[in-house]
Amino acid sequence: MTILSIDTSCDETACAITSDTKILSNIIWSQAKDHAKFGGVMPSLAQRMHEERIDFVTNKALVNSQQPLEKIDAIAVTVGPGLSIALGVGIKKAKELAIKHNKKLIAVNHLEAHVLSPFANSQFSILNSKFPALGLVVSGGNTILVKINEIGEYETLAQTADDALGEALDKAARMLGLGYPGGAILEKFAKLGDPLKYKLPIPMIGQEERKIFSYSGLKTSMMRKIVEIRETNGALSKQNIYDLASSFQDASFTHLFRVCSYSIANCKLKIVNLLVGGGVSANIELRKRLRHLGKQFDINVSFPYSKNMTGDNAAMVGVAAYFKAQRGEFVDPKTIDRIPNLKIGG
Ligand code: KG4
Repeated sequence: MTILSIDTSCDETACAITSDTKILSNIIWSQAKDHAKFGGVMPSLAQRMHEERIDFVTNKALVNSQQPLEKIDAIAVTVGPGLSIALGVGIKKAKELAIKHNKKLIAVNHLEAHVLSPFANSQFSILNSKFPALGLVVSGGNTILVKINEIGEYETLAQTADDALGEALDKAARMLGLGYPGGAILEKFAKLGDPLKYKLPIPMIGQEERKIFSYSGLKTSMMRKIVEIRETNGALSKQNIYDLASSFQDASFTHLFRVCSYSIANCKLKIVNLLVGGGVSANIELRKRLRHLGKQFDINVSFPYSKNMTGDNAAMVGVAAYFKAQRGEFVDPKTIDRIPNLKIGG
């Protein structure tokens, strides 16, 4: 099944062409640099830029895939969660294409797309995957661990109480003056530092049974530590920044690891697979730790096959749409609408 998919949920204008779970093209035009001066995503700017770029990105995805529109079986689009006015741009384009070219339309949950992103271009297919499996999304907007009873049926095991992991890493990077979005640069600096130097507190230690990911307390501790160093030394040295980056990353990943570990240990059924998606899943240290978690519980851990599949993209929307199409889950172009607070797993 060949699907043209669109994602405009945040600050990436993205379109992809997929054939079942194989990627034929995957075009992502990021606006990150345009939002950097505001220290975060400006919704009205995101909407305008999506409007300016959506036609270009869609045409480029078709050209790169070498598929004419006649060969496309369905159009898929992210309907949520995301920024309402940004989602609207992708939905409008998908509706237009579906109506004009008489194609079926598929509404996709962005979180489900992240969960299923390891299926893209992978040997890991639905045929050899065993359920229940686990899905972990670590992105700028969400941190959530779900039990996948089967594809399309999710149960939330743990979720964020305040900031998402990516958001927390971005805020820590901003405190250190490293720019936005800061997750990747924080990772680079963290490699040069000592994770135990500042002993930032691991969030919710001993309270893993609450099944909550929480980073607000850790951010406050980081801020206090920065103020304390500034009061003593005047300014942060390069080594201070490396050590703070390393300490923050270490504490935030340890917390993630502990909550996931608790949830797996308390799953009644044997879990064979853990699928990990979202922007932070590009982080090498995080991957190392999650592989370690996999070894501990004898679970196969899968990540998106390439870096441009970790952050927001439309190829993962195409993969989720393929599974929905198999279940006959199409929507009417007249009634499709954005669902900015769409959840996964009840
Ligand atoms: O999945 P994504 O594009 O956004 C949402 O759907 O929300 O993820 C973006 C997030 C940002 O917070 C960014 O800083 C983080 O992913 N990120 C990273 C890395 N690359 C991107 N965080 C840690 N290490 C990285 N290498």
